[in-house]
Amino acid sequence: MNKLTKLIGSGLLLTAAACSNPPADAGGSSPTDAQLFAGKKVLVAYYSHSGNTQAVAQQIARATGGQLFRIEAVQAYPSAYNRLVEQAQQEIQNGVLPELKTTVPDMAQYDVVFIGSPNWWGTYAPAVKSFLAQYDFSGKQLVPFFTHGGGGMQRCESDMHAQLPQAHFLQAATFPGRSGGADAAELAGWLNNLAQ
Ligand SMILES: Cc1cc2nc3c(=O)[nH]c(=O)nc-3n(C[C@H](O)[C@H](O)[C@H](O)COP(=O)(O)O)c2cc1C
Repeated sequence: MNKLTKLIGSGLLLTAAACSNPPADAGGSSPTDAQLFAGKKVLVAYYSHSGNTQAVAQQIARATGGQLFRIEAVQAYPSAYNRLVEQAQQEIQNGVLPELKTTVPDMAQYDVVFIGSPNWWGTYAPAVKSFLAQYDFSGKQLVPFFTHGGGGMQRCESDMHAQLPQAHFLQAATFPGRSGGADAAELAGWLNNLAQ
């Protein structure tokens, strides 16, 4: 087991990921335990409704020394699951771009931007679509990651490429949605490949 795998699997990370009340990450700092992307400024931006994608984002930030940034819509989604699923479907079908609560203070400083989303109806969440529409990503490496409830990648990666056809994307990853985050070895394998 290499250092990165151990790091991702550490109890500390799992404890942080299991935290049910997510911290507001905008402007906060992430611990730098491994310099996977040494010399590069890394942002780990994510949207997460129920915490699974946030748990993976925290693992990635820990492994890369990246800055966490939580994407949040101004208008909260319904708490009743059926209504949430219905609203999400309508927004996706209609190409809605929800207004976001916060902006990345200085996007220009980042070389690598991880972008995380749950799989919603086979694609990424509308708030992530809004996020991607707001910034100039030229000259940056974009690294999508997703969590899912059994469907896997579906159109998540291809839809993101279609939204930003000029962007430089690295290989996306998808992980089964779990409160404890991604499998440590699986996540480390993906990150190690990206960093080579
Ligand atoms: C509105 C909605 C739509 C979803 N659609 C899908 C889907 O099409 N395919 C799938 O595999 N999972 C789907 N899921 C499950 C989520 O992708 C999964 O639970 C994910 O890990 C949630 O991430 P989060 O906790 O960061 O919000 C859906 C969940 C919601 C709430």
